Amino acid sequence: MRLAVFASGNGSNFQAIAESVQTEQYAELVVLICDKECYALSRAKSLGIPSFVLDKTKKRKEYEQDVLEVLRDYKVDFIALAGYMNIIGATLLDAYEGRIINIHPSLLPKYRGLQALERAYENKDSEVGITIHYVDKGIDTGKLIAQESILNNGESLEELEEKIHALEHKLYVKTLKGLLK
Ligand code: GRF
Repeated sequence: MRLAVFASGNGSNFQAIAESVQTEQYAELVVLICDKECYALSRAKSLGIPSFVLDKTKKRKEYEQDVLEVLRDYKVDFIALAGYMNIIGATLLDAYEGRIINIHPSLLPKYRGLQALERAYENKDSEVGITIHYVDKGIDTGKLIAQESILNNGESLEELEEKIHALEHKLYVKTLKGLLK
């Protein structure tokens, strides 16, 4: 299976996936797609993975057609969103429905959308977690694939963020392995 990752930021999940496919070879990570300049691109460069920044100031349909062109050039079978700060529109969904997944830092259906962990923290939830789900036309509404949680024992938000990220890297790799093998 030929995998693409989409990212808009730091790219730590992208890196975890890239390293795992390189060592375990359960798929081929063929391209990183970003909607803006971000640190994930530097990671791709160091890892030797082709990357593209596409211009999202265009209309969504045109932007997604550009994305599709790259996906077709690289013969991509499956897409993993990892901190990609864009809604997936009809153009991409029609072409890849059932083959796009996302990771979200909450126990969905709780805290869909932005600042999910921050909101759980402010509400003093005793348990926080992450979800991997299929992407549909809603925001974090697609069918759930995997979840994992940790107890919030009064840590700082920064400590929780660190734990959540470590959990994400493991669960994203494990889930992709299960889906793509
Ligand atoms: C992760 O917390 C993920 O759940 C959310 O965006 C963050 C991306 O982190 N969708 P990174 O860019 O992979 O480090």
